[in-house]
Amino acid sequence: SSSIYMEYQGLLLPSETHSEKSLDFAQRFNLKDDDVLAVTYPKSGTSWMQEILPLVLNGGDLTPLHTVVNWERVPWLEERTLEMVVDKLPSPRAFVTHFLYRLMPPSFHTSKAKVIYVMRNPKDVLVSSYYFHKMAEFLEDPGTFDEFMEKFLQGRVLFGKWTEHVKSWRHAELGDRILFITYEEMVQDLPASIRRISDFLCCNLSEEVIQKIAEHCSFQSMKANTMSNFSLVPKEYMDSDKSPFLRKGIVGDWKNHFTSEQLARFQSVIDKELEGENFSLP
Ligand code: PPS
Repeated sequence: SSSIYMEYQGLLLPSETHSEKSLDFAQRFNLKDDDVLAVTYPKSGTSWMQEILPLVLNGGDLTPLHTVVNWERVPWLEERTLEMVVDKLPSPRAFVTHFLYRLMPPSFHTSKAKVIYVMRNPKDVLVSSYYFHKMAEFLEDPGTFDEFMEKFLQGRVLFGKWTEHVKSWRHAELGDRILFITYEEMVQDLPASIRRISDFLCCNLSEEVIQKIAEHCSFQSMKANTMSNFSLVPKEYMDSDKSPFLRKGIVGDWKNHFTSEQLARFQSVIDKELEGENFSLP
């Protein structure tokens, strides 16, 4: 179909990157015990994990960063690319996914594959997503910031409501198979975050290797890396003149975008939907 979005399990997904076939492939996908999945709501740190995970898993060998584009290096479980690159993935494999917990394939539940859930403050997620919708030509124009905020709060955006996504993974009860990390703590102290990830994956990295990985996964390093900054994506799909994919990479840019009315509205909706939850906003 020529429509911009497809519907899958009650969620909106972009037809450019997803299809019935790719989603079927994801559902039939055979996850292995040593696979690692970074799970994110869109705009929460996916591409950052595509940079970090291969280096943590391979002991700091920079080769993949300079030879493989990020979406093939650590492919999305649900996107069209997976089928084309899966046989080339080094072991242990790393994937990213925006799936809610209920969408995970059966093999996830029978394997011991580990999950790193990256959460980002939803106000900054909204701002990042707003600019992404302006530059990604395969998505609908976001309209005004106010209009886009309403869509976001109602879950009429890619992968639905932010609160549903986070809650689904907080409630998953995966014990020591899941690590919760925040975009904010990664910005605050990247080496310490990489240490947490490395310990979780039992990778035993030296302090020197951790520092090296942090250096190569900084916002500036990623922005300068053509294999990671999406500059190889044709302009008719992503127009970085409108807004770069690696846009600002900071915490709190929402303060430059929200009016006090918008903040009150946003906060009241999110607070209500998170009532009784055992975690707070990063
Ligand atoms: S997507 O489309 O879901 O894959 O997007 P995602 O990669 O999850 O989110 C994009 C935002 O992450 C920021 N980013 C970083 N911030 C700090 N440091 C590093 N290294 C880094 N890499 C990616 C990216 O800039 C987007 O956030 P904004 O706020 O728009 O800058």
